[in-house]
Amino acid sequence: MLLSNNHPNCASKYSRITHHFLFWDGNIVTITFEKYAKINGSTNILIIGFGSIGPAVLPLIIRHLDVDKKQISIIASENTNQKIAQQYGIHFECVTLTKNNYKEILTSKLTSGDFLLNLSVNISSLDLILFCHELNISYLDTSLERWLSEKDSDECLHERRTKLMTHKEYLKSGPTALICNGANPGLISHIAKQAILDVAEKVTNNPPQIPTTQEEWAKLVKDLNIVTLHIAERDTQFSLQGRQSDEYVNTWSVPGLLDESLEHTGFSWGTHEYELPNKVVKKIEETDNYRFIQLSKYGANTRVKTWIDDQGIFHGFVIPHAESFSLAEYFCYRDKQTNQISHPTIHYAYQPCNDAIMSLQDAVTNNQTNPDKTRILHSDIVDGCDELGVLILRQNSPEIYWLGSKLSIQEARSLVSNNTATSLQVAIGILVGIIHVINNPGQGLIEPEQCDFVQALKIASPYLGKFSGQWGVWPEESDYSWTFADLSVNLI
Ligand SMILES: NC(=O)c1ccc[n+]([C@@H]2O[C@H](COP(=O)([O-])OP(=O)(O)OC[C@H]3O[C@@H](n4cnc5c(N)ncnc54)[C@H](O)[C@@H]3O)[C@@H](O)[C@H]2O)c1
Repeated sequence: MLLSNNHPNCASKYSRITHHFLFWDGNIVTITFEKYAKINGSTNILIIGFGSIGPAVLPLIIRHLDVDKKQISIIASENTNQKIAQQYGIHFECVTLTKNNYKEILTSKLTSGDFLLNLSVNISSLDLILFCHELNISYLDTSLERWLSEKDSDECLHERRTKLMTHKEYLKSGPTALICNGANPGLISHIAKQAILDVAEKVTNNPPQIPTTQEEWAKLVKDLNIVTLHIAERDTQFSLQGRQSDEYVNTWSVPGLLDESLEHTGFSWGTHEYELPNKVVKKIEETDNYRFIQLSKYGANTRVKTWIDDQGIFHGFVIPHAESFSLAEYFCYRDKQTNQISHPTIHYAYQPCNDAIMSLQDAVTNNQTNPDKTRILHSDIVDGCDELGVLILRQNSPEIYWLGSKLSIQEARSLVSNNTATSLQVAIGILVGIIHVINNPGQGLIEPEQCDFVQALKIASPYLGKFSGQWGVWPEESDYSWTFADLSVNLI
């Protein structure tokens, strides 16, 4: 609930308006409605996709960017949320982009200096990134997508990212294109850096110096013996509207969840791993900057034990995600003498909401990635929260550390309209990414690790509910080697 606002009676677009939000548990959160970036008057923002995430981020864009609503427009292949766009006075058009028509349609809507915010599914990120680069258009997306027509191919997320990186030299300057920047992937990379600093402070009993380069981060991770890092998430939101047996349900994109969960899971395979899950290994690959493993099991069939303080151990799905690769690359230490690399195992460990777990189970049985009957839980959610953070495991240490956001549905709704706990974590990640892109033009292709994590967390944290770190001791017997073999459930 909005308790009060302190309006400094100032008409300037840069006025700082402070709002105090009172939550049901008595907590008061203060948010400054500060304009963190100015959109040039001649710059237009085109949003592609207006499903669960588009409407969630729109109010944040209007709140925190100095932009005229006339500069924003939306296209999406369905008009499901058109009314929301209209309520904000934003132009909305129902358009379906395909591999054959995207250049023509986008050329008619975008010009040099504009901004493309890609919040869609089933549209090739690579094609849009190259298009934007050629036309000098800034770009941000939240996931590495491909055309619906290309989904029959076996190409996995790791291969899509590797293919994109072959263009890195070409994309090393020019309009900033920030990829895979939502909550996870996205904000979670900033949370990971903060978590590592927290661990360093506890271990050394001293506030550490903040590393300023990739090499310094990688050295710190190595010196701290961090061998496994989970993106540990548990979504407990639920609706009273029960799931029908032929319905596929989630708190964000259903095709998005099914697409990534029905891929043979793949993640960065830490250099401490010595026991291969032989029965289920599909591929092991040494890239220049990290080791990659792919299993013959789907993400929706692969579970690990992970931990969040108030939940204790729970089983999370190991679903392929871009942060597994970008963080491993960033935290990869290379010994200059031996040329040996070392980096942690990093992967997602996700327990989606109950209805999504049931949907995943049916999707695996029916090999279904694009079902007809889908539902996103939203205004019908009656309770629950999304806990999303980073779990840090250090070799030979029983002490574990989780840092992240615990955001309830009630908090999310009172902070920003059109939101659930899940969508707000994503939307605020997108907002901090947009701010980075606008304030840092000319960086070419970048990932969240290249952004300023201190500024990102400063802007994001008021929107993250309880954002705090928790130490604990692994509650089960373990040799504390934290290998995948030890943590996986029924795999080896
Ligand atoms: N990084 C993160 O933390 C994170 C979290 C949640 C979602 N995501 C990603 O964000 C994106 C959006 O998620 P969502 O939950 O809003 O998805 P959604 O399925 O609810 O909505 C997708 C939108 O894309 C539009 N669309 C689909 N195909 C299109 C086409 N060919 N042309 C034009 N529009 C098209 C749809 O009309 C819809 O508006 C997805 O890629 C999803 O994977 C990322």
